[in-house]
Amino acid sequence: FNIPDIKNEPIKSYMPGSPERIELKKMLNDLRSVELELPMIIGGKEVTTDHRVRISPPHDHKHTLGYYYQGDASHVQMAIDTAMLARDKWNSMSWHHRAAIFLKAADLFAGPYRAKINAATMLGQSKNAFQAEIDAACEMADFFRYGVRCMTDIYKMQPESAPTTWNYNEFRSLEGFIFALTPFNFTSIAGNLPAAPAMMGNVVVWKPSKTAVYSAAVIMEVLMEAGLPDGVINLVYVGGPTAADVIFQSPDFGGIHFTGSTGVFQGMWKTIGENIQKYKSYPRIVGETGGKDFIFADPTADPQAVAIAMLRGAFEYQGQKCSAASRAYIPRSIWDDVCTRFGNELATVKMGPPEDFTNFINAVIDESSFDKLAGFIEQAKKDADAEVLFGGKCDKSVGYFIEPTVILAKKPDYITMVEELFGPVLTIFVYEDEDLDLTLKILDKTSIYALTGAIFSQDRYNIERITKRLENAAGNFYINDKPTGATVGQQPFGGARGSGTNDKAGSIFNFLRWTSIRTIKENF
Ligand code: ALA
Repeated sequence: FNIPDIKNEPIKSYMPGSPERIELKKMLNDLRSVELELPMIIGGKEVTTDHRVRISPPHDHKHTLGYYYQGDASHVQMAIDTAMLARDKWNSMSWHHRAAIFLKAADLFAGPYRAKINAATMLGQSKNAFQAEIDAACEMADFFRYGVRCMTDIYKMQPESAPTTWNYNEFRSLEGFIFALTPFNFTSIAGNLPAAPAMMGNVVVWKPSKTAVYSAAVIMEVLMEAGLPDGVINLVYVGGPTAADVIFQSPDFGGIHFTGSTGVFQGMWKTIGENIQKYKSYPRIVGETGGKDFIFADPTADPQAVAIAMLRGAFEYQGQKCSAASRAYIPRSIWDDVCTRFGNELATVKMGPPEDFTNFINAVIDESSFDKLAGFIEQAKKDADAEVLFGGKCDKSVGYFIEPTVILAKKPDYITMVEELFGPVLTIFVYEDEDLDLTLKILDKTSIYALTGAIFSQDRYNIERITKRLENAAGNFYINDKPTGATVGQQPFGGARGSGTNDKAGSIFNFLRWTSIRTIKENF
């Protein structure tokens, strides 16, 4: 089989009066006017419990979108058993049948389900229409389509044979189930983490973030409509520790596909290590964790480009992208210009609910995130080593709204230059031009993370020198562009150090983790 030509899903504009805008508005109204009941899906069957949990939009927390049914340890065990029963049939299915399901799912997300997955993401995760479109519809379709290309590229990887010998690789699935633990911030990542191992013939127990259950339910609906056999992906709504207790004790545990916090990932890695003798094989541990992503400008940088990168890179989706810029290093010689331009751009953006399409900034995901961010902002207002330059207002009376906030740090190791905050807060350190090399050193050492970073310069010599100097500071490195918006098929995504195992989501590097190769030699 030659697979169809794969291209990135074109992004729709949602301009006033456009058919996609009318459809999306209607979907938002429809979803707001019902209270959905969301059961777990185990073995293709809906599973309810006595414990219903209310879901509300982060920007309007008094409104009820629906309820999900929270499970317990017995449901996790049920999901494992069901997955293992489905395993033989799924992993012996020819690859092109598996591929057909995911290509069909991609077309459903890009077509009939586009409005629904975008609306669910906008309401459940407080994301504006454009951010929902590039994530839930386009990146999701891209993950599935390019995933199919990754499968086929892998299956073609065969060794040399000799005149009377066949040598060949057999790409087996892993001997067990995969645990997919998915984040709230990208609906497409929530779809990709269970889907990538499943494409390679694995079965999956999937636990979405409790703050993104609403869109997870739509993903599952689409996969089932696309023909995913029962039991291949099992969706459970349980607390993290409950799931971990059961999953890591299971002799059938085969691997984990994770996006979330560094602390949780390291805790799970330890538990996996403690249980290592229980498992049939060494589990595959694939995780994307924290970030303290940077913008670094040199004195030749274009001030307008830096200002726009700061605005978009730090504040799109309220800074809750793993790739979002949260610290910036700007040379004294261009700082005033950058600051004025940034202020002018910032004055044009509005904050409010995503149902109003003119709002660029919406709410942060939940109360604990709001409280943490508000705490850092209040602290910065008092600290002598910091100054709040822009924003700083926090209000949770209706939704968890935090103004886009810029903190000027007087020291490069001020706490908000170092800690991952995961919200609309950018901290800037203005360095003296002659300290450029020292500042690069500080940038590299200040953070334990290395996910994304962007440098701005119009000096070719500096571009090369800084790029080399920061070779370990980011897994996704941008030159004269903001550090967000990695596109499947174009920029494989992931970082090392405290940011994860750098297995590059959406690429062949990631897909290779979901197969265990048997190499066969036959003399004839
Ligand atoms: N693709 C997302 C970004 O790079 C993670 O922002």
